[in-house]
This record gives sequence, C-alpha cells and structure tokens, in this order.
Amino acid sequence: MTYDLAIRGGTIVTATDMYRADIGISGERIAIIAEEVSGAAREIDATGLLVMPGGIDSHVHVSQPQGLGITLADDFASATASAAAGGNTCIMPFALQQRGHSLRQSVEDYKRLAESECYIDTSFHLIVSDPTPAVLGQELPALVKDGYTSFKVFMTYDDLVLNDRQLLEVFDVARAEKALVMVHCEGYDTIKFMTERLERAGKTEPYYHAVSRPEVIEREATHRAISHAELIDVPMMVVHVSGREAMEQVRWAQQRGLKVYAETCPQYITLTAEDLQGLNMEGAKYVCSPPPRDTESQKAIWEGLTQGVFQTFSSDHCPFRYDATDGKLNPKARTSFRWVPNGIPGIETRLPILFSEGVSKGRITAQKFVELSATNHAKMYGLYPKKGSIGVGFDADIALWDPNRKETIRQEILHHGSDYTPWEGFEVTGWPVATIARGKLVMQDGDIIGDKGFGQILSRSASQYAS
Ligand code: URP
Ligand code: ZN
Ligand code: ZN
Repeated sequence: MTYDLAIRGGTIVTATDMYRADIGISGERIAIIAEEVSGAAREIDATGLLVMPGGIDSHVHVSQPQGLGITLADDFASATASAAAGGNTCIMPFALQQRGHSLRQSVEDYKRLAESECYIDTSFHLIVSDPTPAVLGQELPALVKDGYTSFKVFMTYDDLVLNDRQLLEVFDVARAEKALVMVHCEGYDTIKFMTERLERAGKTEPYYHAVSRPEVIEREATHRAISHAELIDVPMMVVHVSGREAMEQVRWAQQRGLKVYAETCPQYITLTAEDLQGLNMEGAKYVCSPPPRDTESQKAIWEGLTQGVFQTFSSDHCPFRYDATDGKLNPKARTSFRWVPNGIPGIETRLPILFSEGVSKGRITAQKFVELSATNHAKMYGLYPKKGSIGVGFDADIALWDPNRKETIRQEILHHGSDYTPWEGFEVTGWPVATIARGKLVMQDGDIIGDKGFGQILSRSASQYAS
C-alpha cells in the first residue's frame, strides 16, 4: 500500500484556500494532496464534509495549582480527550511558577503530570509569577532555548500579579530571547478597590464579579501593558480581550505600527454579564476574568475578528466543578464573589461556537475560521510549519466537519471534567465528526477512540511574530 490512510471526497479548507481534493497520509504526515488518492491501507469517506486543520487551542489551563482547597476539574487525560472531541489536535496549557518556587522545577513537575496522559499533542507556555534575578537571568533564558518560547504574566490576582517594574523586567527578557510575552490585562489595585467597596455595600453575589472589573479597568491595564511593550520595544500578545475598550487599545497600537497581537474567546461573543445574574449561586457558573460584557461588546469583538485585530481565538478553558466544595460552590463562595474561582470550561465547545456563530451565520469565511482556530496559533507560538495547516509535509492533524449538522450543546455530550457547561442548550450549526491526530483517528462521532499517551509533549521554535 502506498499510504496508510486516505481521506477521500472532502473539501479541504486552509487559511487561504478551499478546494476539493483527497489526502494521502504516510505515518504521521501528509504525503500527498491530489484530485484522486488511491492505494491506501485505510480510507475515510469525507464526502460532504469539510477537511480542516485540527484546532490548536493556545490558551488552556489544565491541572494548574489553584490555591487552598480549589482544584481544576481537568487533568491532561480528560482535557485532551475533550479537546479532541471538539475537533482539536493540539493544546497549549500553562506551566505555572508558584511564588518562591523555581521556574524550571515547576516546568518539570508539570511535564510529569502530562507525560503518558495525553490523547493529543500538548505544548506548554510558562507563567512567570516570581521574576527573581535567578529566574530572569538564568531560568527563563534557558527555558526559552529549550523550546518554551512564550510566557504569560498577570497584572492582577493576588498570587500572580507583577508590578510595573517586574513587567518591564520580564518584557526585557522576552525581547532579548525573542520569546512571546502574553499579558493578562486587568488592574490589580482598581479591582481590589472595587471589590472592597462592593463588599462593604453587601453586594457579594456572583454578578458583582462583573461589576468589580468593568471594561475601564481592562482598558487601562491594556494601555499600560502596550506602553511598557513600546518602551522595551518588544512584541506582545494581549490575551482574552473581552470588549470594545481593550480591543480599541490593541487596534490603536497596531495602527501605530506596534507588534501588539490579541486573542479573544467564545465567552466574549456569546455570553454577557447578565448570565452572572442567575438565581441562587447559578451565576458562579459564568465567573471568569475578564467577565463577559454586553451585546455591544460582542459586536465590537466581531469587528476585531473580521478586521484582523485578533490573530487567535482560544477557549481560556479553566474548568471547575460547579456543585463541589473544591470548585465554584466552595464554602467561602457564598460569602463573596471574590471567593468564586475564576474560569469556565470551553475546550470542547470553542470551535463549534466559532464555526456556528462565525461561518454558519455568514460573519466569517471558513478560511478565516481556520486562521483563527489553528493556523495563527501555530505561527504565533512556533509550531508552524509542522502544525496549523493542511499541506504536504505537515503533521496529519485534521478535523472533519459536517457544516450542516445541527447540535444542541449539553453537558451530557461533553468529555470535560466539569459538571456543567456555560453553553447548556446553545444551538449550533456545524460540528466536528472526526479528529485525526498525527495520522491516527482519535475521535469518531463523539467517541474517543485514540490512546492515552499517544499525545506528545512538544517543544517549540521561536514565534514568527516575536522578533
Ligand atoms: O477567569 C479566567 N480567565 N481564569 C483563567 C486564568 C486566566 O486569567 O486566564
Ligand atoms: Zn488570564
Ligand atoms: Zn487563562
């Protein structure tokens, strides 16, 4: 047999093209794309389906330490299974440095958790929470050379926040090492001020999480981070942009010629702060940061997506169980929104939501969908041209989509570790029906048929966007 697997009769979509062709796969790679491919040991009939690069989700949190008594709902097995079910072939979680710990040791510990557990490929960003002279001078440069070519820093959260001086120091290392720095742009002091004021007024329900971090706080921090990056002359990525105010800061920077990139997520095109108003503690299911805004903000995010302000669309999957003492309903959560863990599950629903709200509703083309869901992630984070497109020589990371299939998102059909989905009852048109990771069929019709441990831990090259 000439090929191990052929995908026949489908329509291939890349970030630039859409055309009818067959694909022949040898081992883990795409060997041929032609009008007709025959002579394969196994064939998949993709008639009527779109053949797209497997999604790359470049912003997910898995098995990440959360502080006393709180646990993330996904380990690497459940997160990668859930990702594969949602049409993804690679995820990029964060290896978190806890304060007082060595960054290198944190990475090694985290890697051990992932090894032999993943159904699809995984590659880590770093989170720098304690930029000591040893971290800045030795650990971080050495880790970038080892293929950890991107790291996230936070402008908020008690355990993670860096002050302006520390941000500048980290940006300076990113510039020297040609690494890509990702920034969570919300202001620490302003949120603290708002939180304490709301609590004094007895406004403690989950909804007030959104009130405590309005768009102006995100806008100020986004502007400050952009200014720091301009001062240091380093490219940067603004993650999880929630609405017009921050989007316009990014667009302003881009129009001035700065290398400022941006990411947004499904919650900012589909949810609003009103979702946090649920009866009793139901609103806790939607608590994430930045919080979802309003329908005008959703329009602004679409403007940014269609005009090229955003390069990537990620899930920011940060799953907690709702009805659990180590999750959203932990014992302190009822006393104030400040104790409701921040984050929502979304690794499996990211792509159906973008496809349905974007492609099926005519807001973006299928090519733009591929760019936002896979190609730009690979380019942004140094996985291209191994991953992120369909072409000869690329890893055979492919998702088959039925563009007409209607589904209702429900917890019972998902594979993540959370006990709920924020999109319960959300109707979509377009659904991934099979996922092929490095030539191996890992998901078919919603069933995970791949093997735990098949997914590799990948190191990466420098970002094409970081120099
Ligand atoms: O609420 C969120 N987004 N939790 C995950 C951590 C982060 O800031 O990305
Ligand atoms: Zn963040
Ligand atoms: Zn995140």
